[in-house]
Amino acid sequence: MIDIKEFTRRRKHLMQDMGKDSIAILPTAGEQVRNRDVNYAFRPDSDFLYLTGFWEPEAVLVLIPGRKHGEYVLFCREKDETQEIWHGRRAGQEEVLEAFGADDSFPITDIDDILLGLMENKTRVFYTMGIHADFDQRLTGWVNQLKQKVRMGVNAPGEFVALDHLLHEMRLFKSATEIKMMKKAASLSCKAHERLIKICQPEMMEYQLEAEFVHECMFNGCRDLAYPSIVAAGKNACILHYTENNSALKDGVLVLVDAGGEYQGYASDITRTYPVNGRFSVEQKALYELVLEAQLAAIDMVYPGSHWNAPHEEAVKVITRGLVRLGLLKGRVDKLIKDEAYKPFYMHRTGHWLGLDVHDVGDYKVDNEWRMLEPGMVLTVEPGIYTGDNRKIAKKWRNIGIRIEDDLRVTRTGHEVLTIKAPKTVAQIEAAMALLAITPVAEARANTINDDKATMQTQTLQTEAYS
Ligand code: GLY
Ligand code: MN
Ligand code: MN
Repeated sequence: MIDIKEFTRRRKHLMQDMGKDSIAILPTAGEQVRNRDVNYAFRPDSDFLYLTGFWEPEAVLVLIPGRKHGEYVLFCREKDETQEIWHGRRAGQEEVLEAFGADDSFPITDIDDILLGLMENKTRVFYTMGIHADFDQRLTGWVNQLKQKVRMGVNAPGEFVALDHLLHEMRLFKSATEIKMMKKAASLSCKAHERLIKICQPEMMEYQLEAEFVHECMFNGCRDLAYPSIVAAGKNACILHYTENNSALKDGVLVLVDAGGEYQGYASDITRTYPVNGRFSVEQKALYELVLEAQLAAIDMVYPGSHWNAPHEEAVKVITRGLVRLGLLKGRVDKLIKDEAYKPFYMHRTGHWLGLDVHDVGDYKVDNEWRMLEPGMVLTVEPGIYTGDNRKIAKKWRNIGIRIEDDLRVTRTGHEVLTIKAPKTVAQIEAAMALLAITPVAEARANTINDDKATMQTQTLQTEAYS
């Protein structure tokens, strides 16, 4: 758990950067309807969560540096016995003061009157436009109301400043406690990936691997996943954000699993690719070893003083050279790189920041130059090769999609791979897959095939598992 003192430190830091005569306003995310009266699981907005740790909808954080009656104001829902019986607990104003360290708290229903007063005579408003359209409009309304009071001696704020810049720069550098949370998300997710590798069998469905991943993460304490899992077998792996997950895992193809648990709001983001039947074919192995070589070379470029794009440049170099070696590209490597000839095979970038959001916040360039890596930053390294239905290459190479993705933190001397425990080399994967784990999934899969065959298959699986 992130303790209350850390949230206080974060708010103080932000208020110092904001300066006097200013006010910051941050609404959290709202409930999202899934269908009719069913909502998606609630997840606070990450900026709001970072500054409050408060996990309820209908709340607005207001920071007013130097305010005598308290700098940290939280608007939230009032206690309500009936609502709480039906829908769950609400902290209410008192608890927000005691447990969340707010200096002042008001019912969210009073925001129109109270926020207006808090904004009076402030010069600068820190706010992120464009996320909550309805709140943008209300804020404009409040400013206009203040402008109408000019003759009564009230000054309306004249300057709107994007909050993103200050706040996202803070979020980019993870504290020791944040790293602890991210390590936990990473290690639980590694365990889940390892389990999938061990139970994967031909004729299972993609969604059965997905279900195992969810089970393993949640069972061990992740209350949600950081993003919808991609479980893509065979040619599905060439669709980068495939999430249908409803095909069978055919004998002889690879399956790509891009999935990560979220722990206390912090994301992990891991991809592993492996042969459904436990053995790589010659072509699969050649491409896999190439992606792995690119990933390891990219990981070597993660250290303080290296720049953001260095891992990507390294991955592109290795992949292009390798594609030429395998006869999938023809020409001089440097010219092919310059012409971006690798792009039909490798069309995405090599990583992104990671934190409370899977594609976390923070600038990638500073003054139009790639930014330097510094201790405390956390990023993914995730090269891939996707051959697709490319008619320019021999049939045996087509429709193979491979990505290998790890999460790294930049340390003072280099980096630490947070996701090292998920099997990654050909030898590790083939060894893990040789040990068949008997699970409810194996049984359920057998049951879906057909009755007689199913019984036999379950028995065989059990015999193999125990032999
Ligand atoms: N899971 C999304 C990504 O790897 O960026
Ligand atoms: Mn990623
Ligand atoms: Mn991913």
